[in-house]
Amino acid sequence: MNSKFKRTLVTAALPYANGPVHIGHLAGCYLPSDIYVRYLRGIGHDVKFICGSDEHGVPITIKAKKEGVSPQAIVDKYHKIMGDSFKEFGISFDIYSRTSSKTHHQTASDFFKVLYEKGGFTEQTTEQYYDESAQQFLADRYIIGTCPNCQNPSAYGDQCEKCGTSLSPFDLKDPKSMLSGSKPILKETKNWFLPLDKLQPKIKAYIEKHGDWKSNVYGQCKSWLDSGDGLQPRAMTRDLDWGVPVPVKGAEGKVLYVWFDAPIGYISATKELLPDTWEDYWKKNDTRLIHFIGKDNIVFHCIIFPAMLMEHGEFILADNVPANEFLNLEGDKISTSRNWAVWLHEYLNEFKGKQDVLRYTLCANAPETKDNDFTWKDFQTKNNSELVAIFGNFINRTLVLTHKYYNGIVPSTSAYTKEDLLVLEELGKAPDKIAKAIEQFKFREAISEWMNVARVGNKYLAETEPWKLIKTDEERVKTIMNVALQISCNLAILAEPFLPFTSTKLFELLNLQALKWPSAKQTSNMAAGHIINKDELLFSKVEDADIQIQLDKLQLSKRQNAIPVAAKEIKPETSFDEFAKMDIRTATILEAEVVPKTDKLLKLKLDTGVDVRTVVSGIAAYYKPEDIIGQKVCLLANLAPRKIKGIESQGMILMAENANGELSFVAPTKPNFENGASVK
Ligand code: MF3
Ligand code: ZN
Repeated sequence: MNSKFKRTLVTAALPYANGPVHIGHLAGCYLPSDIYVRYLRGIGHDVKFICGSDEHGVPITIKAKKEGVSPQAIVDKYHKIMGDSFKEFGISFDIYSRTSSKTHHQTASDFFKVLYEKGGFTEQTTEQYYDESAQQFLADRYIIGTCPNCQNPSAYGDQCEKCGTSLSPFDLKDPKSMLSGSKPILKETKNWFLPLDKLQPKIKAYIEKHGDWKSNVYGQCKSWLDSGDGLQPRAMTRDLDWGVPVPVKGAEGKVLYVWFDAPIGYISATKELLPDTWEDYWKKNDTRLIHFIGKDNIVFHCIIFPAMLMEHGEFILADNVPANEFLNLEGDKISTSRNWAVWLHEYLNEFKGKQDVLRYTLCANAPETKDNDFTWKDFQTKNNSELVAIFGNFINRTLVLTHKYYNGIVPSTSAYTKEDLLVLEELGKAPDKIAKAIEQFKFREAISEWMNVARVGNKYLAETEPWKLIKTDEERVKTIMNVALQISCNLAILAEPFLPFTSTKLFELLNLQALKWPSAKQTSNMAAGHIINKDELLFSKVEDADIQIQLDKLQLSKRQNAIPVAAKEIKPETSFDEFAKMDIRTATILEAEVVPKTDKLLKLKLDTGVDVRTVVSGIAAYYKPEDIIGQKVCLLANLAPRKIKGIESQGMILMAENANGELSFVAPTKPNFENGASVK
């Protein structure tokens, strides 16, 4: 640890209280921050760990509207679910507060007043969309219209979810209010802006002092500062009825911008935790402030919040802002609305007692430098081939043999051999290696160094083979088992930041009070004569069936989401005469092969009942040639022939296509139904 600092305040981004926690949240910021804090506690550093629910903002009011309940009911529900599942997962916040708390409203309100009185805001009157029947200004998200980019008729005023373009409400064609469906009018309104343009030089100096930040973070900040016209003033108040009221005259019906109040939540929560000493953590230069966040929060934590703090004047600024990239799930972006996620509360329910397996997987695969993918297969492999086969196996062999040979009593050592000394030396070096990686926010590297210690132990037992040696050299086996027990104990110490449940359990098995990090520099923590407890398995296999249940659940989400999209608008009316022009026949596939140099096309030979013909079909991504020989299909038989990749295609096979673009044959369902029957 850098000795310049006497204490550290670690914050983890306050999650919006409009949905439960999923693995993306965990991998992005809660797990890394927890590991970091647990490590600091372990070395005896003064650290506080702050989090809570972000309970304001438009997404919450929208969710409330959708469910027909009050915003307060929404945040009460999710605050509880999120807080409980964080706790059960072992995220060891010193406080999990919430921004609807009284302390927070007061703190945020006072903060605004300080800036206001210093002249820190500029007032600007702008025209905003207003819903006359609802008598309300409309947040960007409350306006729906046609996307100028892709013509999607239900784009939001801040973003088109179809093409991903970010929009302003004024970009939308035919804007409609989501509240009443009516066309909004433009109305003038006054808001208070933080003049980021004027503050740019100060912010720039702050960022440039921190060239040591993670490169994804530093790079994003630089591009905000250096792009185009640089920083722009940003409104810190909104015309909305859910949030912290703006505490100045003439601001009735307005609240603080959610990104103004939420980070102040870190301060409010610290106050709640430490009513007497909170200022030590926010106002003293020998405090190190660290914000753990996901990459979508970078600008708010590195530019806007520091600008607010600078303007206020009493507070320290973040020393580091380690942000992770995103975690995907089975190759797709995690999405709450599409239910494409692994929800923490569900995991905890379905994998009881396996918190550490998920912690291990998410840490070993953390999206530290680039987006990463979580797959259930990888989860299973990490469990079975690493936690069970390496770490679990080593501990188990050690404990079982100690009981078998010595009734659970730690044996004493005689002179060490060269291989003992080598292993002990490795063991002694591990804590510093792991510590260094953690201090640099390289948690993947850190956990892999930890697993390496178990690997060393495993290899040591495999090479010394005490189970054979016991027949010829009992004295030597005592030393070997003593060394293995030292390794086990140090693994328990070093596991604590990553796998706290396992660490606790292992200390229990060793019949020891939990030891702190510095003890791991010693390699003699297990005294000869000490009696260990009965052995138990620390990890068990994850079976294929367990994984299949999860994959099926995800498939279900896919299908459920496909329904509304697949049921797209019906085409304009047509006539039976038009339809009757199509000669559609039942047929059977006789031969199938991939068209050379393509990956989408199959060349098919069909028996149409009338003739045998060749058809080229773009189905190779969905069907393997060998699987469809004998498949019944429907064929549009009188379509004009055309050449595809030099092959004449004589007709078209009818396929159904769902919202994901997946294709399926459409065919008669009666077995042995004749070829050449006409479809009407
Ligand atoms: N609620 C925000 C999100 O989920 C994060 C808020 S972090 C804080 O993206 F700084 F505002 F607290
Ligand atoms: Zn669009």
